Amino acid sequence: GLPTFVKIVEVGPRDGLQNEKEIVPTKVKIELIDMLSEAGLPVIEATSFVSSKWVPQMADQTEVLQGIKKLSHIKYPVLTPNIQGFQAAVAAGATEVAVFGSASETFSMKNINCSVEESMHKFSDIVRSAEEAKIPVRGYVSCALGCPFEGYIQPAKVTEVAKRMYNLGCCEISLGDTTGGGTPGEMAKMLECVLKEIPSRALAVHCHDTYGQALANILTALQMGISVVDSSVAGLGGCPYAEGASGNVSTEDVLYMLNGLGIDTGVDLDRVMEAGDFICKALNRKTSSKVAQAIYKP
Ligand code: HMG
Ligand code: MG
Repeated sequence: GLPTFVKIVEVGPRDGLQNEKEIVPTKVKIELIDMLSEAGLPVIEATSFVSSKWVPQMADQTEVLQGIKKLSHIKYPVLTPNIQGFQAAVAAGATEVAVFGSASETFSMKNINCSVEESMHKFSDIVRSAEEAKIPVRGYVSCALGCPFEGYIQPAKVTEVAKRMYNLGCCEISLGDTTGGGTPGEMAKMLECVLKEIPSRALAVHCHDTYGQALANILTALQMGISVVDSSVAGLGGCPYAEGASGNVSTEDVLYMLNGLGIDTGVDLDRVMEAGDFICKALNRKTSSKVAQAIYKP
């Protein structure tokens, strides 16, 4: 059956804003995150400690992490690709981090400039330092339902990479449909394979909505026992190293579906829509959330 509670991981300030053409002023990012905190989101991915030559949109990571109002019951993880990023994140006050690997060799090279094998060594260093500092590490597996460069990716490959990251000590593995090209049948096949190695409580799904499949894919995952869902306010963003990938599924649309199913999240849809309206005005763009388009009245 379906879970009674779903934890939503809001990734808009990171996955969303990293791929918006315009660089959003730091002040606006901070206000967005504060609004999302007020909406009751339990986890808000705040920024990433990556190279500003690679992703200039995240160059103000320290200012953002230090400028937000951190509510005690909310987690504010940040992305860290290597030990340099991890140390900078800790120095800026991060108490949770995420490493990001890939089930595709080509995507790994394009995204973090190293092979999958090399990335595992980097993640291992991060997890060891994080354990000493009592910092939980989340692990992403990109290209779980296909790669923008290699196309089809075997569920067995996704499972192998996910299992390695889980065994390294990542507390939660987020399976990313980077291209948004996956369909529910493929989601089911991939999860069936991964669930043989990793318990459902340690898994999350991270769906991009490029092909309009995200909600169907998420529902499939919920039916298979997954209860952690990544989403992005207003459906912001994409990935700078996956051309054509649109934003993540919008938080508003996920919440509407979960509310309709009677699944508790602790998140206030109206306040998420207000945050979505705020960031869309700042970016001078229209929301990608169908629900906000249908019912939001400023
Ligand atoms: P590199 O060039 O191989 O790094 O980049 P390097 O170790 O050879 O160092 C080269 C330079 O980068 C040096 O500076 C380092 O100091 C600097 P220089 O001496 O030339 O002035 N450097 C750093 N600076 C800041 N922070 C760091 C850092 N590390 C080295 N952590 C690197 C390797 C990983 C840094 C680079 O490839 C990078 O920043 N990649 C990030 C790409 C990224 O952020 N992608 C988007 C996030 S992933 C995603 O969106 C997918 C996800 O949403 C799931 C899904 O949808 O699939 C998670
Ligand atoms: Mg993503």
